[in-house]
Amino acid sequence: MVWLSVLLVSALAATSNAIGARAACPDYSQYSTQTHPPLSAGKYQLSYMRPEAACRKFTVPEVEKAIDDMKSLVKDPDLFRLFENAFPSTLDTTIAWKGFANNGTEEELSFITTGDIVAMWLRDSANQLRSYKSLLKANSSTDSLASLFRGAINLQSRYIIQNPYCNAFQAPSESGLPPEHNSAADTDNVSPGYSRDFVFECKYELDSIAALLQLSWDYYEKTRDAEFFGKFKWIEAVKTILNVAEGLLVGTYADNGSLNKSPYTFQRTTTAGTETLNNNGIGNPVKSGTGLVRSAFRPSDDTTIYQLFIPANMQFSSYLGKSAEIMKAHDTDLAKKMSSFAKKVQDGISKHGKVRHAVFGEIYAFEVDGFGSSNLMDDANVPSLLSAPILDFVDASDKTYQNTRKFALSTWNPYYMHGPVING
Ligand SMILES: *[C@@H]1O[C@H](CO)[C@@H](O)[C@H](O)[C@H]1NC(C)=O
Ligand SMILES: *[C@@H]1O[C@H](CO)[C@@H](O)[C@H](O)[C@H]1NC(C)=O
Ligand SMILES: *[C@@H]1O[C@H](CO)[C@@H](O)[C@H](O)[C@H]1NC(C)=O
Repeated sequence: MVWLSVLLVSALAATSNAIGARAACPDYSQYSTQTHPPLSAGKYQLSYMRPEAACRKFTVPEVEKAIDDMKSLVKDPDLFRLFENAFPSTLDTTIAWKGFANNGTEEELSFITTGDIVAMWLRDSANQLRSYKSLLKANSSTDSLASLFRGAINLQSRYIIQNPYCNAFQAPSESGLPPEHNSAADTDNVSPGYSRDFVFECKYELDSIAALLQLSWDYYEKTRDAEFFGKFKWIEAVKTILNVAEGLLVGTYADNGSLNKSPYTFQRTTTAGTETLNNNGIGNPVKSGTGLVRSAFRPSDDTTIYQLFIPANMQFSSYLGKSAEIMKAHDTDLAKKMSSFAKKVQDGISKHGKVRHAVFGEIYAFEVDGFGSSNLMDDANVPSLLSAPILDFVDASDKTYQNTRKFALSTWNPYYMHGPVING
């Protein structure tokens, strides 16, 4: 996976980046490699990893209170230390910039990096913010969690309108942060093309565009602030998402056998099979007419084997349907189109996305090609098959989900990692 080498290159280059802008604050990718007192009082003596208060990027009282509350609930000091380090990490370390479009106006923007790479992934930023959904409430203050969500929705909308097939983006020009060089993408030949000043990487993943719908629903469900979605570029972004998804309902070959024009192609010069697409950048053949939307890459940023990737179709169907409720306040025809598209994808999953496993019975496939072939596995990322209930796609008690869960958490899943644990 190229991911690790990107992390490494970025860690080496990170000392020169402009994040934080507080001269006295150490770069977090450096800070995170060192041990910091006080160590936790349990068996594992875990380091305290939060930056000192003045160096945290964004703080809100609700999150600090949640950490305090957990202290009395979580009795194991090591387990509490893991929570205390991890829960605020997105706010502490990844809000690289927050401001306004055109350095003015009331359009908030939040640039949320994935970690030590100064780039914003659509999927990751939606999932990073989701950690705080339980604490989210309506709040017009620009210092609030609600503002952070609004800023992410506005910036994701801008990214999607500009480059709807891309997965990771550069800081907005308003931030004054320079574009980050992605050496892994130096040889990429991608259609449609893009500018490296705006885009960090352009791997088309259905879960990237579905992420904006998920993030929108998360904000709306907790705030009921439908008005916000009519103010800036959200409606245009949803139209863009629908266009992209419609284009990718089409299979590889037309009924008369000719090759359909693929809306997206990607090729990279690489020795890793997971980093480039077969078939001249189109990917392995998939059938038309399944109701499922193609995805060239997975949430891990590795290529799909079969492009009808079920977890992202679950996520897309779920949040397209839910976001139709937000759209109702602005454009009822578009809202209807969203609901009916969501239903078709759901039907496609029922018809083509389930297979009979010799040990577990009926389970969801990870990927299918629509011709009858499937890839049975699960991957440690979200969306995944295991996460189907937290994608609000299916109830956890669903029989097919329960079978799938048993499969995914067993050695029948080729990517189920098991074996000795550090420190015994
Ligand atoms: C906003 O300010 C930044 C930093 O001063 C500058 O680099 C950028 O060009 C400005 N953007 C706009 C849209 O005015
Ligand atoms: C709104 O958010 C700000 C900043 O986090 C906080 O100080 C304030 O208490 C919040 N207001 C309400 C009504 O929750
Ligand atoms: C085959 O079908 C496609 C899609 O319907 C069409 O664009 C193309 O012109 C057809 N080719 C031939 C040779 O009929």
